[in-house]
Amino acid sequence: MKVMVVGGGGREHAIIKKLKENKEIEKIYALPGNGGMANDAECVAIGAKDIPAIVDFAKNNAIDFAVVAPDDPLVLGAVDELSKLGIPCFGPEAKAAIIEGSKVFSKNLMKKYGIPTAAYEVFDDAAKALEYIETAPIPTVIKADGLALGKGVIIAMTREEAADAVKSIMQDKQFGESGNQIVIEEFLEGPEVSVLSFTDGKTVVPMISSMDHKRAKDNDEGLNTGGMGTIAPNPYYTAEVAERCMKEIFLPTINAMNAEGRTFKGCLYFGLMITKDGPKVIEYNCRFGDPETQVVLPLLESDLFEIMKSVAAGTLTAEQVKFSEKSACCVVMASDGYPLKYQSGFEITMPQDKNIYVAGAKLADGRLLTAGGRVLGVTETADTLADAIAKAYETVKTVNFENAYYRKDIGKKALEV
Ligand code: AMP
Ligand code: GLY
Repeated sequence: MKVMVVGGGGREHAIIKKLKENKEIEKIYALPGNGGMANDAECVAIGAKDIPAIVDFAKNNAIDFAVVAPDDPLVLGAVDELSKLGIPCFGPEAKAAIIEGSKVFSKNLMKKYGIPTAAYEVFDDAAKALEYIETAPIPTVIKADGLALGKGVIIAMTREEAADAVKSIMQDKQFGESGNQIVIEEFLEGPEVSVLSFTDGKTVVPMISSMDHKRAKDNDEGLNTGGMGTIAPNPYYTAEVAERCMKEIFLPTINAMNAEGRTFKGCLYFGLMITKDGPKVIEYNCRFGDPETQVVLPLLESDLFEIMKSVAAGTLTAEQVKFSEKSACCVVMASDGYPLKYQSGFEITMPQDKNIYVAGAKLADGRLLTAGGRVLGVTETADTLADAIAKAYETVKTVNFENAYYRKDIGKKALEV
């Protein structure tokens, strides 16, 4: 079997390493992948958003199965096009990927089907949005409708900040067309939990829960990033919370998408907040989370490829998906300065026998060089979370590149629960 994985970050590296455990797969291509995964897949210089080139590559290389990992190609319809060629795919079609691609869509879906989420209003007119903000409860949350590289959410602590956010999104078009519409929603409080799930549109099987660390600096200070580290399982996701989520959120969401004629197949990511009134949806993603995947997949005991094939075929069962009882911790090593300006081009040295998932790196004359903000993620698993964290930080010491920066407190909050 020849498998193609679209995407090129740490998440894709984790997916590829896990797929490699399947003996039926003889070849994995990564489009575009990155230099740090060259030992695990053949990297092909095709961008993840270049749908025509992706389709051509699949056709010309007799690809048997495609995994489309990032949000952009899913929202742009990569799965629709590959499916037309008869290639089975893991990932939703565009009409289902809209659950991430449009916040207005997802909020309206939740309202229509009674799925718990923050109260909200939608605006397509800046003047009306600014007027609303004059009396809205503060803090308030402003969200650009479309994809915005994870940056389209602004938590405004004052009316002034809220007005600035509306202006920069709707008038200055900070996120381009993504800001033609905005959602202004209620500020929720409580611990956050990420739950990735496999679904074939009929059955939904949650994976082990996880906790992201989005801020750049220790103690959740500094700017928002794509994620500086993760742990799994998330201690706030108790059996009782899990049961409520299944009943009040996961199944209703799958059913709602079916009722809308937008059956979702692939990995549906539930970004949840456990409020005093119960779990509520903060966001949906139409894909595996990054860096959640880097702690979730190392704990998956089942064969990922078998699960992905069942999802594509519509034959998924809960029995197919088994997770270890262990814990995992992933520490992201970034280029100092990320998420703002940083230098790159420094040589990376690291052990080869570890769960290290490379995101921002390239090969030059046989040397692996830093080439991005988030350079790599170091994951360790252990019987307890405390041990997984300690092991991950030990392994971090064996990875070297100039200008490396990482948080020292990944998992600290989880240990205090
Ligand atoms: P998102 O890009 O949708 O993941 O949002 C980024 C982050 O903003 C989330 O992980 C939350 O920490 C925060 N956030 C989003 N919506 C809300 C909300 N309604 N109330 C409080 N925090 C929120
Ligand atoms: N880690 C959050 C995301 O993948 O969107």
